[in-house]
Amino acid sequence: MSQGTSVARDMPEPEPVPKHIAIIMDGNGRWARKRLMPRMAGHKQGIEAVRSIIKACSERDVKYLTLFAFSSENWRRPAEEVTFLMQLFAGALEQEMDKLHENGICFKVIGDITRFEPRIIEFIQQGERLTANNSRLTLTIAANYGGRWDILQAMRKMIEKSPVMPAQFKEADLERYLSMHYAPEPDLFIRTGGEYRISNFLLWQLAYTELYFTDTLWPDFNEREFELAIQSYRVRERRFGRTSEQIQQ
Ligand code: IPE
Ligand code: IPE
Ligand code: MG
Repeated sequence: MSQGTSVARDMPEPEPVPKHIAIIMDGNGRWARKRLMPRMAGHKQGIEAVRSIIKACSERDVKYLTLFAFSSENWRRPAEEVTFLMQLFAGALEQEMDKLHENGICFKVIGDITRFEPRIIEFIQQGERLTANNSRLTLTIAANYGGRWDILQAMRKMIEKSPVMPAQFKEADLERYLSMHYAPEPDLFIRTGGEYRISNFLLWQLAYTELYFTDTLWPDFNEREFELAIQSYRVRERRFGRTSEQIQQ
């Protein structure tokens, strides 16, 4: 029987540590509200969690870490909060880039960055250039990112650039135009904050990713919580459509 046309049939070697982890960092607002503080305080505290998880990934030989920082739908928030998030993002880019570089981290951003102010676009481009040859860990920040946007922009490029007829298009033809074409698909997806949804994150790439949800709010997500997620991943059986017996052979 034909094996079908899906690339998801290719099984990566099982590894004790996920090679690529993608995280929806949710719950900053609730973390702050619980402490009777403005939502902004939660976003600020969230940066600390980002730092500790980047460190934890570098130490554990995770090769790709992808963090959802701002979705294409987050523009719907109050203007004051959007402005604060932009300032926080700009500040973090400016302050952290040299440290990322010193630690051998390759920095990338996915998403439609054309909507950001010029200063932020400049920081992003400078950071990507500075760290381009680093290989210890690739840190991708998804900013003004939406999974549907990503698939659509890839489709536009594929149709524009590909000499083949639509009937011949393969999954791999589209994949090379997805904004995270440089990374393997995530092995482990983590969402903090107790919601059980994907919120338009990496729709294409999460097809066979192991999903992990925790009630812990993002600012409280520390190395110990991260270890729990990895332990949960370790005991999963990734079957990619096969039977359990086939995997254990
Ligand atoms: C996630 O935390 C951060 C962003 C979306 C930028 P939230 O701000 O969504 O926090 P909650 O979900 O309101 O608690
Ligand atoms: C998803 O969180 C986006 C980011 C973490 C950047 P949201 O808090 O915006 O998601 P919804 O709206 O609850 O689905
Ligand atoms: Mg939220």
